[in-house]
Amino acid sequence: MSGDAIVIRPCHGVEELRACVALQKEVWNFSDAELVPLRMFVVAEKVGGQVMGAFERDVMVGFALAIPGTRSGHLYLHSHMLAVRKDYRNHGLGRRLKLFQREDALARGIELIEWTFDPLEIKNAYLNIEKLGAIVRRYNINQYGITSSPLQGGLPSDRLIAEWWLKSKRVERLLKAGTHPPFDCEAAIEVPAQIYEWKAAPDTRAKAKAVQERNRGEFLQNFSKGLAVLGYERDAQGNGRFLLGHWEEPWSYASQP
Ligand SMILES: CC(C)(COP(=O)(O)OP(=O)(O)OC[C@H]1O[C@@H](n2cnc3c(N)ncnc32)[C@H](O)[C@@H]1OP(=O)(O)O)[C@@H](O)C(=O)NCCC(=O)NCCS
Repeated sequence: MSGDAIVIRPCHGVEELRACVALQKEVWNFSDAELVPLRMFVVAEKVGGQVMGAFERDVMVGFALAIPGTRSGHLYLHSHMLAVRKDYRNHGLGRRLKLFQREDALARGIELIEWTFDPLEIKNAYLNIEKLGAIVRRYNINQYGITSSPLQGGLPSDRLIAEWWLKSKRVERLLKAGTHPPFDCEAAIEVPAQIYEWKAAPDTRAKAKAVQERNRGEFLQNFSKGLAVLGYERDAQGNGRFLLGHWEEPWSYASQP
């Protein structure tokens, strides 16, 4: 696959939105009841959200879905889904889709895009923190209940909230220079590379659950102290490590009451 042959653009018309639903089904393997339906894609596009596609010729190979939100009077985007077809992954397409969302948001005067992600997903964490420059300082326990997606492995659907401050120094420097500003690391939270196989098999699932519970406690404790996730490391064995410190920039929309 050559990345240059893929065009990123807004989706147009019901057939392209239908292709998003089909790709969603392929990527997450949700039951029909848990799929985000076509109607929601239509609505997202109409109410100021984003439905962006990655197309190889006319075939959709990735998409991003975002809906508008407000917090303390500020408009922001909540990016609900990002998907790239399996054979097209690890060629920068996920990142390109996010950067396209950013350009579109900035053109509309929006400065924040948020999304949630599973703290046990090493790849997503790396993409969000290191390649995009999102920060994290909030944790939701079992956000969607226990879902039918095999990616979730029957565990509670805990989620970290990624805040992507589109005009922050951190993001601008990362996009220009490829590195985010240095910070003093005050805590680290580990995710073992085996987490994927532990989640996948019923007899090792307890091990995955134990990691989730340990890390949940560590995140909540560190966030309550005012620390934020500002870095993410992977080692040669594929283990992941969240790095936390104090974020010095003032970007924040106070939480809704
Ligand atoms: C998450 C997803 C959209 C990323 O798409 P993608 O096109 O593969 O992303 P990119 O290629 O832009 O970036 C992925 C980065 O993670 C790295 N990566 C790949 N596998 C990894 C792993 N096991 N651990 C850590 N990092 C990994 C890639 O090497 C790449 O970094 P690099 O550019 O420095 O090499 C895609 O994997 C996907 O559709 N996953 C299933 C659905 C999902 O989880 N969506 C996100 C939550 S809504």
